[in-house]
Amino acid sequence: MAESKSAKLLVEGKEIELPILSPTAGPDVMDIRKLYGQADVFTYDPGFTSTASCDSTITFIDGDKGELWYRGYPIEQLADQSNYLEVCYLLLYGELPTAAQMKDFETRVTRHTMVHEQMHNFFRGFRRDAHPMATMVGVVGAMSAFYHDSTDISDPQQREIASIRLIAKLPTIAAMAYKYSIGQPFVYPRNDLSYAANFLHMCFSVPAEQYRVEPALAKAMDRIMTLHADHEQNASTSTVRLAGSSGANPFACIAAGIACLWGPAHGGANQACLEMLREIGSVDRIPEYIARAKDKDDPFRLMGFGHRVYKNFDPRAKVMKESADEVLELLGIHDNPTLQVAKELEKIALEDDYFVSKKLYPNVDFYSGIILEAMGFPTAMFTPIFALSRTVGWIAQWKEMISDPQNKIGRPRQLYVGSPRRDYQDMGER
Ligand code: SDX
Repeated sequence: MAESKSAKLLVEGKEIELPILSPTAGPDVMDIRKLYGQADVFTYDPGFTSTASCDSTITFIDGDKGELWYRGYPIEQLADQSNYLEVCYLLLYGELPTAAQMKDFETRVTRHTMVHEQMHNFFRGFRRDAHPMATMVGVVGAMSAFYHDSTDISDPQQREIASIRLIAKLPTIAAMAYKYSIGQPFVYPRNDLSYAANFLHMCFSVPAEQYRVEPALAKAMDRIMTLHADHEQNASTSTVRLAGSSGANPFACIAAGIACLWGPAHGGANQACLEMLREIGSVDRIPEYIARAKDKDDPFRLMGFGHRVYKNFDPRAKVMKESADEVLELLGIHDNPTLQVAKELEKIALEDDYFVSKKLYPNVDFYSGIILEAMGFPTAMFTPIFALSRTVGWIAQWKEMISDPQNKIGRPRQLYVGSPRRDYQDMGER
């Protein structure tokens, strides 16, 4: 970044000059790294609404225009013309692969899709009705107890093998979490299937009969994975970066990202959104829920709506909405009540001044659940699918941070508003 401009700050009569750094795209940033040393003050920004935590070359979002780029390529073009594994290569290495590079990468990922047989035992310890996200946090974290040949994160080769293992094994672990929850046997990955087709195979095939993956559903699954692959410094990515900044085991860092993604304000919104659409149930009940979403005294929010960055349509939601129509048509599902409620809810909300004035639009989680439910996934599997798709983004961001020579442990400060210093009192004096 060229350091071309600066900002002047007056703090208790002292003038502080702070460099302004200009990005490739998006807002300039004020470099406050020397602020505390020069002015003895912290900045204060709970939720990081105005704070850049790092510089990155991976993903860019223009919230006002509703644009999302992976390494400069618009998400619409990647969703339409690329595929998830090629997008993984792009996010990890920064450029689209040649045919030879893609074949080598695909082979390396394919050859790591099986998990250590010993890991099957971890599932046995969970109740069958455990949420698959709980299982995934546990089993992915347990990977840190298996791969002692990839714990030295200062070694690029070990970072590489840990990355490949995570991208390759997350679908297997997610499918195992699903199979375990429905009491069916685990299904091993098949190296002759594409990444998305393999995931559908591991989820829906059973030993008792042949299972053929419908190519159009595999393509829809692949597109959903691409749309979820990365998204700048969102909460779960920031969690992975912060965990990784201490030098922690990469598998444990991804487990931390899965834990954060689970929240309904983040990746858990796809499950919460479908449950909300089901609860609304019919178009005539939409006004009741719109009123609740607008009521300051009601904690209810329209799940799948709003975004910290997008103040326009989430471009992923647009692609997802088109895909929902295609998948339901393919599956011969007409007049799906949930989709009808979703489309009418979107229409009404986007004409309502509350949502318009607050720039609340459907986000990536608004339509995804409708497609996944139509494919046969229970709502509890929606966020695990988000997690396995986002693993490449977490890894790419983690690698970028670890290989940055300026990388240091993340350690925010605070505004202390607690008790002034006071002396201990014996029990009798209290
Ligand atoms: C993801 O960061 C990412 O990039 C995340 C993600 C990714 O790919 O990693 O895009 C994935 O997490 C998408 C978001 C999924 N979450 C939901 O759909 C849950 C519902 N949405 C919200 O809870 C909310 O919109 C957030 C959490 C997404 C964003 O919240 P912000 O940026 O902190 O905004 P806010 O809560 O301060 O809301 C601003 C105003 C508030 O009203 P006021 O206090 O200004 O009067 O908008 C209102 C909010 O009450 N508002 C909503 C609303 N979302 C915000 N009101 C009703 N329904 C909603 N959904």
